[in-house]
Amino acid sequence: MKFVHTVLALAAGLSVAIASGESPSVRRLFRRNTTPSDVNGFKGAILLKNGQQTSCEVALMRNTYGFVAASCLDYLDKDAKSVNQSTIYEVAISGGNQVSYGTVMVSRVTPNPRYDPKTFANNLAVVEFTGNGGRYEFVNYIASWRPDWSSMYYVRRSMVSTMWNMPVVAPYTESSEDLAGCARANRLFLQNQKDMMCNKMSTPSPLNSTCSVPYGSVYGVNGVNIAIAALYSHSAIYGDNICGGNVYNYYTVMENYVHWAMSVLKTRVPVYHSRVAEYTENMNPEYTMTIPGQPSDIDGVKVVGGDIYRIKTEEVPKAEPEAKEGEKEKKGGLSIPAIVAIVLGALLVLGLALYLYRKKQKGKLGELSRVRKWWMFGGMGNRNSQGPPAYPTHY
Ligand SMILES: *[C@@H]1O[C@H](CO)[C@@H](O)[C@H](O)[C@H]1NC(C)=O
Ligand SMILES: *[C@@H]1O[C@H](CO)[C@@H](O)[C@H](O)[C@H]1NC(C)=O
Repeated sequence: MKFVHTVLALAAGLSVAIASGESPSVRRLFRRNTTPSDVNGFKGAILLKNGQQTSCEVALMRNTYGFVAASCLDYLDKDAKSVNQSTIYEVAISGGNQVSYGTVMVSRVTPNPRYDPKTFANNLAVVEFTGNGGRYEFVNYIASWRPDWSSMYYVRRSMVSTMWNMPVVAPYTESSEDLAGCARANRLFLQNQKDMMCNKMSTPSPLNSTCSVPYGSVYGVNGVNIAIAALYSHSAIYGDNICGGNVYNYYTVMENYVHWAMSVLKTRVPVYHSRVAEYTENMNPEYTMTIPGQPSDIDGVKVVGGDIYRIKTEEVPKAEPEAKEGEKEKKGGLSIPAIVAIVLGALLVLGLALYLYRKKQKGKLGELSRVRKWWMFGGMGNRNSQGPPAYPTHY
């Protein structure tokens, strides 16, 4: 039971909980119609640096703290260990629609100690604000159970001076083609699909309508409920055109970092999930993604992150400066297509061997072998099972 936190208190199969076992508070924040306009009912926030809005959205947890991408902060060193405290950080909070909820000073930023600025692994920071979140206390919830999310809303919040624009909201359901392209373009995603989301969707930059930018945040949709699930992390660009070329955008799923945030904040934080027996919480405050070895980037692909409004095409780093040298050969130089070919070849041989084996058994196994076929391809087996749909690609 220690690692399985099951909440039984709420009807309708839904739980709003405080991470790590505190009794759930009964709130009705999450019963929506679940249309994209419902996102307007949630408070949202963006990070300001030196008085200017950035593309970086803040995932609010309460009126005094939230998550932001670690890549959105300024650092004094290349390893992103010490934050530039001379930059003025503020958080502008919207009432959910175009109503301003005030702008507050940031009192402390804590990048995840396992944030890797080269690959954008563990790209989250906890941001704490002074004051009272503009007016009065509120709670927003982090979506903490990925199997809940039957689809997603990608959201871009932005301002014109101190006025909020209507959030841009794009519904999206993951497709296997998108995921395959996302995995080809970025090793971090390839190795950490349960902690990331990705697609090619973009929206016009509020600062330059001819330049497309990623969305800022992602909400998980669960029946009539929605909750914030992921924040923009980085983009992988084939070629030079960050504004509308062949660009994949990656988002960090926050659920595995909730207990790290708790260790920073020294308090429990609000999470949202379905009331299902399988619900588990990652309670490791030192949780880390798998950080890809060298070369971490794919040939011909440039990776950028942070405040995407201000990255100019000419500033996009040159593709794979080190990838061609040394390391690649040391690793054996297997390209992704080569690995795929080897795996497919191995599966083919295995399949043939099984076929011959079965033939030899001359139907002795009968039904059993049919069952076993499904067991072998187990990940897909849940499709016909009951209850909430399993997350087909990641679990
Ligand atoms: C730190 O931030 C200040 C204000 O944004 C800036 O002027 C300064 O150049 C930054 N320092 C470094 C080392 O980047
Ligand atoms: C706006 O974006 C376009 C690319 O689509 C770029 O050529 C142009 O320089 C940008 N304008 C500004 C003011 O940054």
